[in-house]
Amino acid sequence: MNMDSSFAMSRRSVLLAGAGIALTTATAPWAAGTAAVREIRIAAAPGQAPLVGGSRPQTDVLGYDGKVPGPTLRLRQGEPVRIIVENKLDQDTTVHWHGIRLPNAMDGVPGLTQPPIKPGESFTYEFTPPDAGTFWYHPHANSLQQLGRGLAGALIIEAPEPFAVDREILWMIGDWRLKPDAQIAGGFGNSMEAAMSGRVGNTVTINGALPADELVHAGERIRLRLINSALARIMALRFEGHRPLIVAIDGQPCDPHEPEGDRVLLGPAMRIDVVLDMSGEPGRRYRVIDDFYDDLAYTLVHLAYDDKTMARASPLETAGNLPRNPLPQPDLAAAERHELALRGGMMSGAMMGGGGMMSGGMMGGMGGAAWSINGTSMTGDGHADMLPLLTLKLGRSYVLTLRNETAWWHPMHLHGHSFLVVGRNGTSSPRREWSDTVLVPPKESVDIAFVADNPGDWMLHCHVTDHQMAGLMTVLRIA
Ligand code: C2O
Ligand code: CU
Ligand code: CU
Repeated sequence: MNMDSSFAMSRRSVLLAGAGIALTTATAPWAAGTAAVREIRIAAAPGQAPLVGGSRPQTDVLGYDGKVPGPTLRLRQGEPVRIIVENKLDQDTTVHWHGIRLPNAMDGVPGLTQPPIKPGESFTYEFTPPDAGTFWYHPHANSLQQLGRGLAGALIIEAPEPFAVDREILWMIGDWRLKPDAQIAGGFGNSMEAAMSGRVGNTVTINGALPADELVHAGERIRLRLINSALARIMALRFEGHRPLIVAIDGQPCDPHEPEGDRVLLGPAMRIDVVLDMSGEPGRRYRVIDDFYDDLAYTLVHLAYDDKTMARASPLETAGNLPRNPLPQPDLAAAERHELALRGGMMSGAMMGGGGMMSGGMMGGMGGAAWSINGTSMTGDGHADMLPLLTLKLGRSYVLTLRNETAWWHPMHLHGHSFLVVGRNGTSSPRREWSDTVLVPPKESVDIAFVADNPGDWMLHCHVTDHQMAGLMTVLRIA
């Protein structure tokens, strides 16, 4: 694809169309506007990527434009885009624009919202991103293999006004299970893994490569966009010697705050934007450690200071708030409430690795599926005839309690909406934060609230891909 020329083109058309076309506030955010449409082309294709680098062999991957990660798509809030996706794979695919509130037909779920894109064919996605922030795109077909072999890219929606930082850095953090020859190991969809942590890999990359030092200058302020594009690995990042300030979660601005326990918790598919003031000493290196899994802490990357100190006219003030996105506020008092019980999986809390064997068998007789939501198991990536678990009334507010009765963590994701996390374990949350993927700890519950304002059939599933494939998925209809 050629982003620069298409961008130039759309700028030119915007100029030709004349400046100053006001956005009508009366239309829904995903309704088509009148501005010129920017066009982008990407292809899902096999390729090779230097995941481990050095003299080691390249890894055979599947990637957008053959790359891992795929091209970072930078779109503008409120500006329509047309993305033509060509399938150069030898299997069906689709693209899901994770976290974007868009029309149902553009959501990329095969069978449910569109027919799959056959090999050699293409599909045109058209939408107008209503929210600025950090999002990502990935297939929703044969997800374990397609996402697990590299198909994913960052999707950055720019706000009209830039946020005041010196520099922006993007870390798309991936996790791979590589063999000694640097090729991706087979064995996707192993049923024991599917009933436990999912396919956690052995090699963590940043932007498709083994992390090299991240070079920084003393005194600068960085906006760091974090995206967890792993199939299953949960991350908890500690920034040695630094105090990251979380300014957005899943693309949605929040009240800036330091992470709980000084760890930035990032389940699969989650995004966190932090402001990092580089307060370290010139010439020193500071570790960024991921210590989510007990006994398996590792250094993800170093923040490496050069000898310069950034000159500044006046000292930095505390980072300000990002401008909020136009999200509909749920009416909690009038909201209709439902509970979704997440069940299944192996009983033991044994983590990956360490040879830990589970102590119990599967729960319930679910015939092949390892997980269920309110007793039903939808498996796979999306297909026709997925009957909705609930039908929600268009325009009404809902509170859903996601009750995790299992021994495992589940990053639960709802398509087509952002929701407010309003409570945990029955008590209301001090901070009400928007997100589209919420990490529900074992044996805990999370209450999410949203206005069902986007009509269609929307998936709700765990983003540990193995869990989704093995039944931790359902459909909500909004009509
Ligand atoms: Cu990120 Cu159903 O997906
Ligand atoms: Cu999604
Ligand atoms: Cu899960």
